[in-house]
Amino acid sequence: MSLSRFCKFSVLVGTTGVAGALLFQQHRQTREWQRAARREFSRASYNSPPPGYRGPLFRPRLDFPPKPPSGDETFPWLDLDFKTEPERYLRTVRDYCLEGNIECDFRVEENGRRDWYHIPWMSFLPTGREPIHGMTMERPAAPGMLADTQRRRLQTWAVAFYNAPGAFVIGNVWKEPSRPKLDGVVFPEGTIGLKLLFTEGSAEDIPYLKESPVWHAAIAREPEAPGDRGPPVEMRLIQMDVAVRDERADIGWVFGTFVYHSSQSSDAPWRRLVPVCLQWGNDPDLTQQRYQEGARPVQTWNNPRLRDLGILPSSRPYLGWLGRANGPVDNFKSCCASCHSTASVPDKDNAVPRAIPPKRPENDGELMRWFRNLKAGEPFEEGRKSMDYSQQLKSSIKQYNEWAKEHRPKTLHNRVVLWWQGLLQVHPFPRSSALSSGKDN
Ligand code: HEC
Repeated sequence: MSLSRFCKFSVLVGTTGVAGALLFQQHRQTREWQRAARREFSRASYNSPPPGYRGPLFRPRLDFPPKPPSGDETFPWLDLDFKTEPERYLRTVRDYCLEGNIECDFRVEENGRRDWYHIPWMSFLPTGREPIHGMTMERPAAPGMLADTQRRRLQTWAVAFYNAPGAFVIGNVWKEPSRPKLDGVVFPEGTIGLKLLFTEGSAEDIPYLKESPVWHAAIAREPEAPGDRGPPVEMRLIQMDVAVRDERADIGWVFGTFVYHSSQSSDAPWRRLVPVCLQWGNDPDLTQQRYQEGARPVQTWNNPRLRDLGILPSSRPYLGWLGRANGPVDNFKSCCASCHSTASVPDKDNAVPRAIPPKRPENDGELMRWFRNLKAGEPFEEGRKSMDYSQQLKSSIKQYNEWAKEHRPKTLHNRVVLWWQGLLQVHPFPRSSALSSGKDN
């Protein structure tokens, strides 16, 4: 072999060796990253169980159904007209949600009647799941917000579930814990999203919570430092929210809420949840001006007894903006359907409309962007990916992005992807704030 041929040969062997080593290194890093993502995906809680606690712990159920619903299951509320029989519709949905779940105290993996699932990636941020019931931190309730007798600020924590038709879609997004699939998210009819909200308030703070179901939860000591968790405290069921995929609604969804009320005669405390309001659209024409002229929502049903029941305290003009549907723990500058319609990624917008209450009616134009009747699967703004009204799905992607920003291996491929995404602004990593439950931003 001549010298020059030998040199060429050596260069070739050397380059192939280095490239191979690099590829091997990248492959190993990618595998490690995928394993780490899988661990974080299913991590049960942000904080460890409190010392000395011996009771059951939260176990996320994430074995999502691999196939879409077979079509065999019937959903009894779909035979009812939510506009003419809102209370009956809500009670039917409520009973479906409680079936098998009262018996297992919403440890849904033990529900023998029906499959319910959790959302992955909910334990990374300091507001993430506590270890006993998997609750995440919501916006705290200011004094007077929940009842006239409420004198102190109270923390609210919540946990959400989806039934099998909804869980199939979540499983599709999260087939790979290190690579969410964000395209074409639309839940099938029959889907129910369910959320239980607990307050640290007692019946002294909120009289209608007398004998409400109690959960112990290792929540934050103070809402300002959500990651600093204390020993278990008593929390009381206050509100149950449902999001029901129903094609007959203008937005493809019906939102409804219930409040626990001690005046209800049922022996089973969970059945004392009273229908509070139901919403099938955002009332896109109901501006501040029209409200002042006497117009009221026509796509919301409100329980007419809210004031008598003490659920609507004197500090609040209504539960949701201009009389739209909302729960007692929610911000009255928004409403169920408005806030949920913003569920898209990237998550840049405020979920709660800016400029409320409008100082001048001219502001209404900007404001009404939050009260459009977007269809199921339609993004809040062009160029974003809709999470089809699912705030939890949006939260899971947000937590994943936060985690990925810290842990993604610095491979050449990832650097190029990050650079490209930055250029396109398609997948930025949203900043987290101390109280980023989305409820009060
Ligand atoms: C200002 C925003 C806001 C308002 C108003 C609001 N929600 Fe939500 N909702 C959220 C966020 C954020 C989550 C996810 C919580 C989390 O990240 O843990 C959520 C979660 C849920 C879930 C669990 C499934 C899902 O979509 O993520 C249901 C069901 C739900 N809300 C129903 C309601 C109902 C019913 C109302 C009105 C009574 C309502 N919400 C009002 C922001 C809002």
